[in-house]
Amino acid sequence: MKPSMIFHLLFLSLNFSSLFLSSNARGGFNHSNHSGYVYNNYGGSVRQLYAENNFQMSVEEHFQKLEKLAQGYMSNSDLEKAIKAFNGRCNNISRIYSIGKSVLGVPLWVMEISDRPGEKEAEPAFKFIGNVHGDEPVGRELLLFLANWICDNYMKDPLATLIVDNVHLHILPSMNPDGYSLRKRGNAHNIDLNRDFPDQFFPMNDDLDSRQPETKAIMNWLEEIHFTASASLHGGALVANYPWDGTEDRKKNYYPCPDDEAFRFLASVYSKSHYNMSLSKEFPEGITNGAFWYPIYGGMQDWNYIHHGCFELTLEVSDNKWPHASELLTLWEYNKMSMLNLVASLVKTGIHGRVFSSDRGRPLPASISIRGINYTIAASKTYADYHRLLAPSEKYEVIATMPGYRSKSTCIVLGEAATTIDFVLDPETTHLGSQLLVDSDCYFESKTSLKVLELLPRVPFRTFNNLGFNFDISLLLNEQEGNIKFSIPKTEHRAKTARCCMRCGTQIEMKTSWTQVNPGRRFLSVNTVCKIEVVVSLPGVAHLYVQDLWR
Ligand SMILES: *[C@@H]1O[C@H](CO)[C@@H](O)[C@H](O)[C@H]1NC(C)=O
Ligand SMILES: *[C@@H]1O[C@H](CO)[C@@H](O)[C@H](O)[C@H]1NC(C)=O
Ligand SMILES: *[C@@H]1O[C@H](CO)[C@@H](O)[C@H](O)[C@H]1NC(C)=O
Ligand SMILES: *[C@@H]1O[C@H](CO)[C@@H](O)[C@H](O)[C@H]1NC(C)=O
Ligand SMILES: *[C@@H]1O[C@H](CO)[C@@H](O)[C@H](O)[C@H]1NC(C)=O
Ligand SMILES: [Zn+2]
Repeated sequence: MKPSMIFHLLFLSLNFSSLFLSSNARGGFNHSNHSGYVYNNYGGSVRQLYAENNFQMSVEEHFQKLEKLAQGYMSNSDLEKAIKAFNGRCNNISRIYSIGKSVLGVPLWVMEISDRPGEKEAEPAFKFIGNVHGDEPVGRELLLFLANWICDNYMKDPLATLIVDNVHLHILPSMNPDGYSLRKRGNAHNIDLNRDFPDQFFPMNDDLDSRQPETKAIMNWLEEIHFTASASLHGGALVANYPWDGTEDRKKNYYPCPDDEAFRFLASVYSKSHYNMSLSKEFPEGITNGAFWYPIYGGMQDWNYIHHGCFELTLEVSDNKWPHASELLTLWEYNKMSMLNLVASLVKTGIHGRVFSSDRGRPLPASISIRGINYTIAASKTYADYHRLLAPSEKYEVIATMPGYRSKSTCIVLGEAATTIDFVLDPETTHLGSQLLVDSDCYFESKTSLKVLELLPRVPFRTFNNLGFNFDISLLLNEQEGNIKFSIPKTEHRAKTARCCMRCGTQIEMKTSWTQVNPGRRFLSVNTVCKIEVVVSLPGVAHLYVQDLWR
């Protein structure tokens, strides 16, 4: 290694001894005709359900049969109650929120599970999405079992605790509540939501106006939250399906994405932890490449990976789409370790770290790539943490790139446990501008070695109610413990409509602790336009740092 390739290779205190085996999936039926990439609405699921029955059934008989199948399953209002009950029972490690509404106006509820729900942390986020297809209801039931199990076992079971403490887990039990209540695959407009996403090969679903509200909600959600990986749950088969789902020539072929190995690994985590998925005769090891199974276009999985750096699997969790409700608990037992291990693999495996600038420790939302893999993920904007899933037991060259900085790379042999690599990038000397706070004020030398390495306002964004703007101020300090006081001097108040959490002239104090390796950062939401004073103090010493956030 050249000496110029300075990097920090830090091993997390979490030392994982065992590697979790895993897997993945997709969900759906065999489309034998993709002509013009028109989705084959509804028919496929009926074929699956009644393959051995007759098609002479009247519509009424058909619905009666479906109603009977749904006995014992949660209705949409039952589901909403269950989600709220979960949140009530488990409110210190969860929050619930809706990402939008279905065509018929049913809220798309999400449960977030974390020791700091709703906060940004330097941690990976995972999402589970159930009931993409209205007539595949097992997933939504399993996801409620999962949420409740984690709630009941936090601080008791190591896996539950690991997930709550180190991952932000977001669970959308039903993406298609209308399809569920109508007992059909598509949504209320009869659109198959797993064909409604923009496609990489064909110009379909590119028209914003005709996109379904459920699809839009998912797409907006990914703008808000930086997910490392995810899985959607389907029924009608038993397999973990991974990208690509589509092929350029529309032929049924193994069509690997750049991260084929990582995806095979993740899919295997699921299948091997499952009761019997890996014993499949149809799918070796219980996993399949989507296009090798049958190509689909406009699917959610490929879109996640292509547009948001999110490694998504499509999990087919039961051959029977409507098993008798009395079997749901058993199905949960079959899938429990798979679901937990899949989420935990975001912490237990892969390469993780943060990227800083060498001059003042500012976090850099850099790009992280691996030599030989044509795919880039982005470090998060707030903390510049990145989480790169990779197949274990291989040698990788990891490269961090940031405009205005010199790229750095390092070679590692990734074991079965997670590895942490932090990068410290040097600014290119000629680079000017673009950074908001680059004066030497940011340095905060003191005799006690307390140093403000950074004070970073985030780009302002509009709040929901349009009342103002939020800033996150992040402090990076190199001392072990101290107090931070944020205050907004009244004289500097320039906002016409200061509202909400923090008015000008108010102060909040926080006690906090830091270490050199994991610099402390505390956040403040300022819903107004002001000058911010940040006071950082250690016992016996006080420092004042003033920064005008509104430039
Ligand atoms: C597929 O369906 C289209 C109409 O939707 C039809 O024109 C075409 O012949 C079909 N192709 C096959 C192979 O069945
Ligand atoms: C949540 O509450 C439980 C029970 O009071 C407690 O054991 C646990 O530490 C709390 N967790 C967090 C993250 O505050
Ligand atoms: C898995 O077990 C279930 C329940 O016993 C059974 O119906 C299914 O056929 C099994 N699948 C495989 C692949 O062994
Ligand atoms: C899909 O269906 C067609 C026609 O029914 C069949 O020939 C083909 O083998 C099926 N493919 C898979 C992967 O099941
Ligand atoms: C890398 O992937 C991009 C699409 O993301 C593609 O345009 C480009 O041709 C690929 N490069 C190589 C060398 O395969
Ligand atoms: Zn499905």
